[in-house]
This record gives sequence, structure tokens and C-alpha cells, in this order.
Amino acid sequence: MFQTAVIEAGSKAELYRQLAQHLEGLLSGEPDMIANAANTSALMFQTMPDINWAGFYFLKGDELVLGPFQGKPACVRIAVGRGVCGTAIAQGASILVEDVHAFPGHIACDAASRSELVVPIRSGSDIIGVIDLDSPVPSRFDRDDQEGIERLAEIFKAATTF
Ligand code: SME
Repeated sequence: MFQTAVIEAGSKAELYRQLAQHLEGLLSGEPDMIANAANTSALMFQTMPDINWAGFYFLKGDELVLGPFQGKPACVRIAVGRGVCGTAIAQGASILVEDVHAFPGHIACDAASRSELVVPIRSGSDIIGVIDLDSPVPSRFDRDDQEGIERLAEIFKAATTF
């Protein structure tokens, strides 16, 4: 059975290499969307330093709806184009926010959050939702984090039936 304690990465690249490997094992043979999103959230929250929220929003019609997550209770519905998550959907791209207070329309679910990373989950040419990570540390996320979480989003998508 998976144990978070086995991850003792020396570098960010190594952390994400190990996270990807563990996620593939954790989701292997399991297609259920809620179960896989819940375990992906728990894995990120337990293994990534300086994170206060990690989870999913799924696109339903023209709004994002809260999925499984770890952290404080969060905003349930976010319209496409609103907040960091809705902007990532509208732009079809990951968004790195170094300072959430400087992002127009940022939706604060936890007052402690200072920086944020939102990564779309792609299924073919469609986007079906996002992975959202918040940190209490300013500029917590960089391109390495973005690429690492984009890889986790691909693994989640590949394992899961929608
Ligand atoms: N900050 C997000 C809202 C979701 S919470 O961070 C969990 C946003 O602006 O879209």
C-alpha cells in the first residue's frame, strides 16, 4: 500500500518524478472519478511542502463545480472566466499566480492563501476541469511545479473514466 513517507525527494524534479510514479500506482486499475480525484488530492496535500489547499473543480455546463479536495471548505461554483480557476478554463492554459492579491478577481477561499497554481485537465481537445493548489507562501509555485502538476493531471485523466 502506498505510504507518503517513502517520498524523500532531494530536488523538485525528483519530487515530481516520484509523485508521478506514486500516482500511477495509486490510480492503477481504478476508473472512478471521485475516488481518483480524492486520492490525487490527498497525495498532493500530504507530499508537497507549503500547501494549504489541493483539489479539483470539474466543468459542468458553463461553471466549475467543486470536487474532492484537501484543505478548508471552498467556494462551490465558479463561472468560466471568473477567479483563477475560471480564467484557466477560459484561456485553456495553466495559470501561475505569484501574488493572489494582485490577480484581479481572485476568489479567496482561505485568507491564508498567497500564491496559487491552476492546471487544466484535458480529455482530447476538451477541458473537463482543473487541479487547483494554494499556498500560504508568496511565489510558492514556478514552471517546474506547473510541469509537474500538468503531468499529474495527465495521469489522473488517463486512469479515470468520465
Ligand atoms: N482561488 C480560486 C478559488 C478556489 S480556492 O482557491 C480553493 C480562484 O480564484 O479561482
